[in-house]
Amino acid sequence: MNQDGSASPSSATEPLLSVRDIKKHFPIRDGVMQRVTGQVRAVDGVSFDLMRGSTLGLVGESGCGKTTLGRLVAGLTEPTSGGVYFDGGRVDELQGEAARSFRRNCQMVFQDSFSSLNPRHLVKDLVGRPLKVYREASGSDLTERVVELLESVGLGRQHLYRYPHQFSGGQRQRISIARALALDPAMVVLDEPTSALDVSVQAQILNLLHDLQTDRGLTFLFITHDLSVVRHMAENIVVMYLGKVAETADSTSLFERPLHPYSHALLQASPDVVGDGSGFKGLEGTVPDPARPPSGCRFHTRCAHATPNCGWEIDDVVLRLEDIPELFDELVGVERASAFDAELQFESPAAAEGLATALRGSTIPNAMAGAMEPAVVTGNSVRVRFHEVPTVELSARGGGREVACILEDFDPDNDHSHSTSSVSP
Ligand SMILES: Nc1ncnc2c1ncn2[C@@H]1O[C@H](COP(=O)(O)OP(=O)(O)O)[C@@H](O)[C@H]1O
Ligand SMILES: [Mg+2]
Repeated sequence: MNQDGSASPSSATEPLLSVRDIKKHFPIRDGVMQRVTGQVRAVDGVSFDLMRGSTLGLVGESGCGKTTLGRLVAGLTEPTSGGVYFDGGRVDELQGEAARSFRRNCQMVFQDSFSSLNPRHLVKDLVGRPLKVYREASGSDLTERVVELLESVGLGRQHLYRYPHQFSGGQRQRISIARALALDPAMVVLDEPTSALDVSVQAQILNLLHDLQTDRGLTFLFITHDLSVVRHMAENIVVMYLGKVAETADSTSLFERPLHPYSHALLQASPDVVGDGSGFKGLEGTVPDPARPPSGCRFHTRCAHATPNCGWEIDDVVLRLEDIPELFDELVGVERASAFDAELQFESPAAAEGLATALRGSTIPNAMAGAMEPAVVTGNSVRVRFHEVPTVELSARGGGREVACILEDFDPDNDHSHSTSSVSP
């Protein structure tokens, strides 16, 4: 970026923002010594480009790592590895004026305007604070700049001396947006900016964001769990599942024909409009623990189109055991040779036989059964082995699309995959 923060000449063809193989792992600490016993892989190797003036939709269920990724992009948290490049410069290596310029140029708007707006501050101070901190304005000049910002988001002078709680949710989000725009940034990370709002208010805020983008040439990273929200906003979409990219495509192609079963499930699912949106119709269960992400394809445990080659492993057996209390209560140990190979020890030979029978029966998905060697019972223990498969990586599918799924011709309407039998008791 230039000294004055303006665009470099190559800006029309170069992405404003590039994210390269970025990871954020949070250590899990345990015991009095607070030893690190594991890592929450919140973001686990994500790359994408964001062109100036465009909108990228970042979509996935609650717990997929979207907020963490947004914070990484906005420079609010340090990556474990990988890099964020803004206007060609690596964000974590920026110093002095360049670092200052980045912080001005990349702002973030959060879902929860109640906790992001200090309740004890007047609107004038909330919106004017960035201008004060960066010594852009003071006195009556500051007031006039705040009024202009308020007017640009559909509020006005009459709101200067009120507190956040005196506004509706939609108005509070307008205040958050005004504050984010105070320093005239190039880019705004919008983290579920409309998720807490009623549908009609959502539409107003989306329209406002769209108009502001057109007027100011803003670049948006638009984070949401609801694909329908970004349908008309985003040129491109990154679908994220459990810290990784499942699919990336231009918006039109994605809505016409999703190539990853997870994208398809998100499209089918209408998010639960009440609550935090963590519930989805048509997509069963919840996102697995990012401290122990599933092998192969991370989505295989919930995928309606899973095949025997999607990463079935010992954890899938243990998960199913939890649904059979009479066996689970007798489980005393799981000795793993690898994620795909383990000896499960029980209190009695009968329980060991019980597991072997369950694994032969119809309680497990056909795809999982097809991935498994016949279980071998020896006394109290059962040896369970799966065919080992590598981690499923993104691959190019033409038209700039990338998909992390082994089904090269996934067609949701033509379900030739192996159906699953019922799992829960
Ligand atoms: N500071 C943190 N320490 C430990 N785990 C975290 C932290 N922040 C987020 N996580 C975990 O990382 C995962 C992704 O969280 P988040 O980025 O908030 O996802 P999303 O925004 O998609 O709901 C979750 O399992 C969450 O519990
Ligand atoms: Mg979030």
